[in-house]
Amino acid sequence: MHPARHLVLVGPMGAGKTSIGRCLARHFGLAFADSDHEVERRTGAPIPTIFDCEGEGGFRAREREILAALVAGPDAVIATGGGAVLAPANRRGLSEAGFVVYLQADVASQLQRLARDRVRPLLATGDREATLRRLAAERAPLYAEVADLCFDTDTLFPPQAAAQLARLLDAQWTRATPTHTDLQESPA
Ligand code: S3P
Repeated sequence: MHPARHLVLVGPMGAGKTSIGRCLARHFGLAFADSDHEVERRTGAPIPTIFDCEGEGGFRAREREILAALVAGPDAVIATGGGAVLAPANRRGLSEAGFVVYLQADVASQLQRLARDRVRPLLATGDREATLRRLAAERAPLYAEVADLCFDTDTLFPPQAAAQLARLLDAQWTRATPTHTDLQESPA
């Protein structure tokens, strides 16, 4: 059993981090936070506009700030953006405070699931398949580095993936919120 306060989902675009994360939050009775939505909410602008105005660097700085705040915040299921693992500080923060699940999806599944997507700046221009292959080569080792559990989503719809994952998590993850006894045992 691995104790951790948060359940963190990492993985590439189209792996299902948001939809699976919502189902898992319901299952575990936890709040759900999506770092992309938080960045948009706190910035007051959609991600494509942030990329247009501030470049990818500006988005990554905002993403780092939000992830640090989410990790420091109340226990939650946290869905991260596909590039969250690029920054060493994010990798450290997420693995220190969370049980990290790497949701895997191959490029064929990603292409299918993201076929109608028009909001991901990294897929807005050029050859989508080549981009997804390049990102996978760069990032797969980083997802694996932080992962406590790897889970292949290729053949599953999000509710099925969440149900299977919940069973695996019931056996592998314990919530690490301080208990009443822990608090009593703390020095005054
Ligand atoms: C990105 C993935 C997106 C979002 C941004 C950049 C990436 O999140 O953070 O467009 O670098 O892979 P999803 O993984 O939720 O699509």
